[in-house]
Amino acid sequence: MAILDGKQLAQQIRAELQAEVSTIVEKGGKIPHLAAVLIGDNPASQAYVRNKVRSCEQVGFRSTLIQRDANTTHDELLQIVDELNQNPEIDGFIVQLPLPKHIDEYAITLAIDPRKDVDGFHPLNFGRMAQGLPCYLPATPFGILEIIRRYEIPTAGKEVVVIGRSNIVGSPISILMARKGYPGDATVTICHSRTQNLAEHTLKADIIIAAIGQAEFLKADMVKPGAVVIDVGINRVDDHNTASGYRLTGDVDYENVAPKCAWITPVPGGVGQLTVAALLMNTLKSAKGEIYG
Ligand code: GUN
Repeated sequence: MAILDGKQLAQQIRAELQAEVSTIVEKGGKIPHLAAVLIGDNPASQAYVRNKVRSCEQVGFRSTLIQRDANTTHDELLQIVDELNQNPEIDGFIVQLPLPKHIDEYAITLAIDPRKDVDGFHPLNFGRMAQGLPCYLPATPFGILEIIRRYEIPTAGKEVVVIGRSNIVGSPISILMARKGYPGDATVTICHSRTQNLAEHTLKADIIIAAIGQAEFLKADMVKPGAVVIDVGINRVDDHNTASGYRLTGDVDYENVAPKCAWITPVPGGVGQLTVAALLMNTLKSAKGEIYG
């Protein structure tokens, strides 16, 4: 068994981005600039956004944080989105989800200019992804592809089982793994809450991508020896032996699954590490006009 080390890959990507920024600066070009919009005081969202802003600083990007309280109206947020759409200084921006309940998340996503949608959540980017056209890939699927690519995991003709069908992970990664070319060309099965005999599917899989949000859902007897297991889950489970009273665990029963695998991503230190790196890669692509010119 070997570990797919997300932490090390994310460091490598940040170093590459930093080098690109240095080159841009030497040539007098425009430094990539990411904006993040945070509405309300959800502690997890605050931590994620802080991490995104800090990562920008680490690689030499510019960043702007726009913070508003939970009473912000739908129209006020639309106004913020519109200003960011119009602002030539901003290469890309994200509106951190979840939003307060009185705001229509989908309407906000639709209002973001697809050319600045570095989260890749706008349906235009999703559609372009599905058709194999240049687009911003959503961060988690992009991160998974980077892990597969950088560890040179073979995918052509392999059986891939994706567990979970969310718009931001399960659905896009299943499309990407089936696309022509590397890392793709796989035979993909999507499993979800209505799947019968899930283990029958997972036992055939050369690669399992677990993205269901249930702690330690994938057990050792559901995995073929020598499989590659990619764990997207980040779940909090009670643990009175830790100072915080909880620990983070993935969707995979790591302790028992890992010894059966060829490769596995740990949690923490796996896929999660790549998501911010992927957001920064999208921001750089936007600054360079690589997707929409
Ligand atoms: N909330 C949880 N993950 C994400 C993400 O990748 N982007 C945004 N905008 N919000 C999130």
